[in-house]
Amino acid sequence: MRIGVFCSGGDAPGMNACLRAVVRSAKAAGHDVVGIHRGYQGLLNEDFYINADGEPLMKLRSVSNLAKLGGTILHTSRSEEFRTDAGQKKAAGILQKHRIDALIPIGGDGSFRGAVALSRYYDGQVIGCPGTIDNDLLGTDYTIGFATAVETAVEALDRLRDTADSHERMFLVEVMGRHSGYIGLYTALAGGAEVAAIPETPTDTAHIIRQLQLLKARGKTSIMIVVAEGDETGGAVVLNEQLKQGGCPFQTRVLTLGHLQRGGTPVAADRVLAARLGDFAVRSILDGRTGAMTGLIHGNLVLTPFADSFAGHRPVPEALLRLLETLAY
Ligand code: F6P
Repeated sequence: MRIGVFCSGGDAPGMNACLRAVVRSAKAAGHDVVGIHRGYQGLLNEDFYINADGEPLMKLRSVSNLAKLGGTILHTSRSEEFRTDAGQKKAAGILQKHRIDALIPIGGDGSFRGAVALSRYYDGQVIGCPGTIDNDLLGTDYTIGFATAVETAVEALDRLRDTADSHERMFLVEVMGRHSGYIGLYTALAGGAEVAAIPETPTDTAHIIRQLQLLKARGKTSIMIVVAEGDETGGAVVLNEQLKQGGCPFQTRVLTLGHLQRGGTPVAADRVLAARLGDFAVRSILDGRTGAMTGLIHGNLVLTPFADSFAGHRPVPEALLRLLETLAY
């Protein structure tokens, strides 16, 4: 069997570890792996990984030392051409031309929407691995890359807290997560922030100011507010202006972490998750499964139909929201 693999959408730490698992598990079972560069766009361009012997195949040694490497050696992209019906038909034709029997996309919701669209024309099997820092997919407790992104953001928060303490200031730190508050909430909780402004909960400026006044009266001299980029206020810069105009009792500074959260060495939790899901994707294909995303729920490996993985907004745990508020005081 020839299994194609690619990374698509935003890169996430652990994508390489997942790729390594796909290649090693497929080779262990006696199958070939074709690496596709630059996601769906690379597929349309027939842009394949070429090994040291000049063949368009990934070998055991093609993935040596990959578990600890951030980013993705296959590169990634978001493809406009693949969004079109003609692009999807063309991609299916290319897979057939190169005799690729099954495909493993590693990516987020956009990649899996693409997989559903592709399957209208491609009769091979498709099993995806959730690789995105956002942790916004249904069908897995955690996505590959989330733990590392949170770790990076928490490290930033810890450093900023030193300066906030020294200058008796408030910092607003904007984290990624597009439509999801997962990175924001976990970062706030782990970093001991006082407030998390995330898309899942209304951000009430007047309420935050009352809270800040109370905290100041209780003797707090430094404050950290974590703001998700998708918060309805429009982000940390806007929220800062609103708080200042509303009479914020602290001197403030703003930092947007942005793409800093996407790169870097994956933490062990992401590497282990990537290894398990990459291997499970291969085993699922060999079991004849298709049209689904691999995931880990309560410690169990599971498959979720692609359409269900992006069907709704993944709610953040209520208990963690309450805990953040309790611990801020
Ligand atoms: O989906 C991953 C993500 O990092 C989001 O958190 C963020 O909004 C988006 O990608 C940024 O995309 P780009 O790298 O294309 O600017």
